[in-house]
Amino acid sequence: MSRVPNPYRPGFNVPPPAFVGRDGVLASVREALDVAALDGRTPRPLILTGTRGVSKTVALGEASALAAERLGWPAVHVEVRPRRPFTPLLLERLEAVRLDLEHTTQPSRRGTRVTGGKVSASALGVGAELTIERGGEARGPADPIGQALDATMRVAMREGAGLVLTLDEAQLATRDELAAFTAVLQEHMGADWPLVVIVAGLPSLRDPNRSVTYLERGEWQELGLLDPADARRALIDPAAEAGRPLDDAAADLLVEASGGYPYAVQLYGHHAWRASASSSRITVTHARKALDAARRELEEGLYVARWNDASAREQEYLVAVAALIVRTGEATGPQVAAELGKAQTQVSYLRDRLLKKGTLYTEGPRLLFLTPGMAEWVSGR
Ligand SMILES: Nc1ncnc2c1ncn2[C@@H]1O[C@H](COP(=O)(O)OP(=O)(O)OP(=O)(O)O)[C@@H](O)[C@H]1O
Ligand SMILES: [Mg+2]
Repeated sequence: MSRVPNPYRPGFNVPPPAFVGRDGVLASVREALDVAALDGRTPRPLILTGTRGVSKTVALGEASALAAERLGWPAVHVEVRPRRPFTPLLLERLEAVRLDLEHTTQPSRRGTRVTGGKVSASALGVGAELTIERGGEARGPADPIGQALDATMRVAMREGAGLVLTLDEAQLATRDELAAFTAVLQEHMGADWPLVVIVAGLPSLRDPNRSVTYLERGEWQELGLLDPADARRALIDPAAEAGRPLDDAAADLLVEASGGYPYAVQLYGHHAWRASASSSRITVTHARKALDAARRELEEGLYVARWNDASAREQEYLVAVAALIVRTGEATGPQVAAELGKAQTQVSYLRDRLLKKGTLYTEGPRLLFLTPGMAEWVSGR
């Protein structure tokens, strides 16, 4: 039998073979593209939040791909790095796109080329026409991001295109830098740039102390676990397409084991595929065989490093949080202190450290693990 490559994609920043269960995000992206391309306005930004490994980065990539396919628009993607400003990278990427637009004429963009101050958006399949002639007389803004964006947008519009700008790991950006970036966007709302901005980050991006007004006014979408039907599709479709279908019972087992966690879905699928190498189907026996290997990889890859990064005291705190979550469905600071038999003031520094390390996050008064499945893992240790 010829070897068929494993279709599953466990990892981070790796597009899955089937991007399922994110119709809401895709609908918002389509709508934002329509507003930008058809109405010639800058739509409000889309902000995607969620815990680790739930599809944020992949969703940004899908959005850019959608803009490229439907409109032939380029995209600028910037991932914020810890303790580093993102502005230099943003400027560099904007400049690269500008040069690229100046020097190449993409055939795929022909559908939206400017004709006498108008662009016919036939690429959208609606035959709409809109005026996208914009004031060429305005002086460029003084700040570097404003200047770079202005320069790139001008060239893009001249070419009958718009731009998708994605900012990933935005929770790592300082409030000041994020505010400077969004101030430029705010300032140019009236300029009617066909610019679609999508920001992604961990739930801490919502932290009111760090909030940036422009983003607050955006459309927020929280990405969570996949529901069982979507997780099932994410497992079944790639196997069927690769020619080694999953039996129902095998799918049941893998859906259940993955808990709908997108990263785990890929990991369980990957190991089930491996376990069935010499077979023409993936049976429940293969799936069962895959469970241990997948679970071990999930634990070693995600949970063990977080656990080892915690001091003995912090680990005690995590155990209490996990026990409460598994037992009662939630854990708050006071409940954790009570569970540990301590006054809240005695243990609040542990809570703060674990929040800072990104092992836990808060949602109102509740404490949660940033990696799906970690509460169960910690409590089962
Ligand atoms: N909708 C989906 N269906 C199936 N698998 C998915 C889906 N979205 C993402 N995945 C898979 O989940 C894994 C993690 O995706 P991604 O890197 O986008 O997560 P993330 O939310 O950006 O995580 P992090 O916060 O750590 O950056 C990848 O293996 C990807 O292929
Ligand atoms: Mg990511």
